[in-house]
Amino acid sequence: MKQFISVKDVSDINALVKKALEYKAQPFLDKSLGANKRIGLLFLNPSLRTRLSTQVAAQNLGMEPIVFNVDKEGWALEFAEGAIMNGTTVEHIKDAAPILGNYFDIVCIRTFPGLINKEEDYGEKIINQFIKYAGVPIVSLESATLHPLQSLTDIITIQESIASNVSFKNKKPKIVLTWAPHIKPIPQCVANSFSQWVNAWGEANFVITHPEGYALAAEYTNGAIITHHQDDALKDADFVYVKNWSSYEQYGKVLCSDTQWMMNNKKLALTNNAKLMHCLPVRRNVELSDEILDGPNSLVTKEASNRVWAAQAVLSEILKSK
Ligand code: CP
Repeated sequence: MKQFISVKDVSDINALVKKALEYKAQPFLDKSLGANKRIGLLFLNPSLRTRLSTQVAAQNLGMEPIVFNVDKEGWALEFAEGAIMNGTTVEHIKDAAPILGNYFDIVCIRTFPGLINKEEDYGEKIINQFIKYAGVPIVSLESATLHPLQSLTDIITIQESIASNVSFKNKKPKIVLTWAPHIKPIPQCVANSFSQWVNAWGEANFVITHPEGYALAAEYTNGAIITHHQDDALKDADFVYVKNWSSYEQYGKVLCSDTQWMMNNKKLALTNNAKLMHCLPVRRNVELSDEILDGPNSLVTKEASNRVWAAQAVLSEILKSK
């Protein structure tokens, strides 16, 4: 694996999941693979799980991780080609990225979209310029449009759950991605990425439900059944993935604040005793009720724990191909 930006960088999803689960069983299986190698984790935005799980994963492989909060501690970066830098930006990505490529064997970046200019966000200007100028493998810790480490984790968590339930021996699981309310505009990254990975995995009946105006980009959702009727979508669901996102069509706008879209035990009763997933952080009693999050059907803690094994599997594939 040369980079990890989306599911398109993965040749065999099930093999990557298998590798992750091997690391879960034996965290130090490849403890010398990354010896004498450094990984830079660059954050332009806040993070709890991605930051810590990727550091743990790197250390399990013997790598030295160095975290740099670019947004708080670095010079303000310029990304525009030909910019006359007489404003607030101090350092051009063309100058910074090659230096990072010299310091590190792998560079990982977390950035969010501005949610103002769709073309700019969906052009993935920031991560693409790191790819262009760093000269070393780039790993997305969440980009403007996708969150591949989260999605790999989600497939791992679903596969683990399926493996421990005999009822899935002869049937595909029904996975429902449902929009949930939120108090502010949230990127489409997690929902885009989850849709892209579930579709690429191809071993589930996949349904997406959201209010009108919240359709995701078709390049990620093609292959899923899409409905505005949440109760219909939830019928017989085995897994319910809850996530808010702002409008893609009316880019970055919040069009719905209907609290009826919050997942709770009444809605859980419509499902096939579904397992509930969310990438976290979650707004309790806005996106998901306490009763769900604290109840027996919630997979959220297991899901967040699995972030380590997803990151470890990806880093090991990159180290092996270097
Ligand atoms: N799910 C996720 O990416 O969490 P963090 O934002 O805390 O890293």
